[in-house]
Amino acid sequence: MAITKPQVLDALRKVIDPYAGIDIVTQNLVDDLVIQDKFISFTVNIPISDKEYTDALKKRCEQVVQDTLSGDVVLDIHLQLKDKNAPEPKPQPKAEPEDLLAGVKNIIAVASGKGGVGKSTIAANLAVSLANAGYQVGLVDTDIYGPSIPTMFQLRGERPNINTKRKLVPLEKYGVKLLSMGFLVDQDDAVVWRGPMVSSAVKQFLTEVVWGDLDYLIMDLPPGTGDIQLTIVQTVPLTGAVIVSTPQDVALDDARKGVTMFRKVNVPVLGIVENMAYFTPPELPEKKYHIFGKDGARNLAAKLEVPFLGEVPIEQVVREGGDSGVPVATLDPASTPSALVFQHIAARVAAETDNRNESKKATEPIKIKIR
Ligand SMILES: Nc1ncnc2c1ncn2[C@@H]1O[C@H](COP(=O)(O)OP(=O)(O)OP(=O)(O)O)[C@@H](O)[C@H]1O
Ligand SMILES: [Mg+2]
Repeated sequence: MAITKPQVLDALRKVIDPYAGIDIVTQNLVDDLVIQDKFISFTVNIPISDKEYTDALKKRCEQVVQDTLSGDVVLDIHLQLKDKNAPEPKPQPKAEPEDLLAGVKNIIAVASGKGGVGKSTIAANLAVSLANAGYQVGLVDTDIYGPSIPTMFQLRGERPNINTKRKLVPLEKYGVKLLSMGFLVDQDDAVVWRGPMVSSAVKQFLTEVVWGDLDYLIMDLPPGTGDIQLTIVQTVPLTGAVIVSTPQDVALDDARKGVTMFRKVNVPVLGIVENMAYFTPPELPEKKYHIFGKDGARNLAAKLEVPFLGEVPIEQVVREGGDSGVPVATLDPASTPSALVFQHIAARVAAETDNRNESKKATEPIKIKIR
């Protein structure tokens, strides 16, 4: 018995186009059906030319026609794109990795060789002072073992939000966007982490944050000049580094190591801040007691030919501000000497950043790709 077109079309109704979820006949995809004895030829107009898709569709057509018409047929199936003139749909591009630091103009690391010299204090107050000056500022605390931001900004126990793209949204206080390892990692868990674990956690942490537009992203580094610090400074393209030191020799030796580390990885040192430079008793405002030595960091800056950014006195209100979560830079500079000092340091850092960006190649467009 001669094979008829309706028979072939009926068979082809069993071929469901996986692209549309509807059979190819209902979709009017079958064309040019010609039958001569046992020779059957037709065209299927396909929506895409993906090989896996076309191979599967062709095989399915062969199968249903063979099965329905008892196998004794010879098939010639053409697959062609639906609209020959239409541009072939491009394979779906993989989602473009997001450039999460694209809006960040300058990233500045605050570092020291030695622990406890006041990095976090300087980083926090520098961030607040820059924000007070009208800049858009973020502050990130990368110290997994001893994060300071939660306490210094009265945000202990807070958690950053996660947006719909599963990226972290920084918290915000005193006009500064804030993120700390302390918001994410339980301190009791962190103490047993080894170096590589810390490095990869910090890396992920630094690059999975929606910072938005920022003039300055200040990074508070953990103390030291080891692997963790090196990983961190190489994870993001730093505009520059601010080194913090007290005036005493042990701190200065470590500050020198800090400068060397940044120079090795080609990160310009924007300058050195001398912290705990002197003490002025409130009742003797004209006196300066140089408890840890005099001008040590200033002299080191001169020796290493890096800018000296200023000296921060030892003030009770600085320590109290750190502990109570109200950085001294939020206070009135007219009545709080160290608030005024931080205002000046922020201005110097901004000026040195401008200098650096004018004299050296502009900070490379920051491209941290997240896949
Ligand atoms: N200028 C200052 N006057 C008074 N107290 C200060 C001053 N600078 C820092 N401190 C206090 O000294 C302590 C150590 O400071 P901070 O935590 O900023 O140091 P750090 O270098 O970040 O320490 P770590 O190396 O542990 O990260 C804090 O209690 C802080 O409040
Ligand atoms: Mg610290």
